[in-house]
Amino acid sequence: MTGSVDRAPQSLRRVFASVALGATLAAGVASAQQVWRVGDPARGASLAAGCAGCHGEHGAAPLPGMPALASQQPEFLMLQLVLMREGLRDVPAMAGTLKGLNDRDLVDIATYYGAARPFRSPPARDPALYARGETLSGAMGCNSCHMGDYSGQRQVPRLVNQREDYLAAALRAYRDDRRSGTDTSMNAVMYKAVDADIAAIAHYLAQRPNDQIR
Ligand code: HEC
Ligand code: HEC
Repeated sequence: MTGSVDRAPQSLRRVFASVALGATLAAGVASAQQVWRVGDPARGASLAAGCAGCHGEHGAAPLPGMPALASQQPEFLMLQLVLMREGLRDVPAMAGTLKGLNDRDLVDIATYYGAARPFRSPPARDPALYARGETLSGAMGCNSCHMGDYSGQRQVPRLVNQREDYLAAALRAYRDDRRSGTDTSMNAVMYKAVDADIAAIAHYLAQRPNDQIR
């Protein structure tokens, strides 16, 4: 995983280097989590005012298909925002929304959403589907990158506290090569997965109890 940023486009690597360096100098700290908390969440909140119409107040995702941003890994959010701003991840619904935002703005927005109270799916567990999703996620090694509790790490996103419909749509997009990120690890993982397996995995992740919120 650690190598994935090295394979990112040149512009993205530059952003990463400058942000990480500036943040480290400002805070005098070394850990990734602390580095990403030095963004200004209050400034991020005001910059993100226009995002709430789709992503909800504080990123809590009330609308179908719109990903929850609340409590997502800030480093993942920052990278995705850069990818979308540069047109490397094409999200037609968001066309234009990131225009004019500089790297510091995106760090502040990522810091704000990263610290917001997590979204929780309404409890609606289907025991058979849940069990199937749990088995598949284990067998496919999802926790090796997304962590044992699926809370993510650095540029690997949190999967718990995410909407089930968005998880399923994202997994189909990786499988069908309609989405690739800073590396192609997800395309490789999902290659050959059938829709029924994707539905079970998305259900399991959305309904999984997750008390360990960072
Ligand atoms: C018109 C609706 C709309 C607006 C406004 C909007 N977004 Fe989005 N956003 C979307 C949709 C839809 C997706 C999911 C795209 C996909 O399916 O890959 C998305 C995806 C994202 C993602 C990726 C999340 C993930 O888990 O991969 C981030 C980060 C994000 N938006 C941040 C923002 C920010 C910050 C703003 C405001 C500056 C914003 N969005 C405004 C609709 C919107
Ligand atoms: C080799 C490491 C690795 C493995 C194994 C892996 N992932 Fe991922 N996953 C990633 C990375 C890195 C990203 C971010 C990629 C990007 O930039 O689009 C990601 C992104 C995702 C996303 C997008 C989330 C969002 O908010 O947009 C979902 C959903 C996901 N993974 C689910 C899974 C599932 C389910 C499995 C097991 C079937 C799995 N992953 C296995 C590394 C991995």
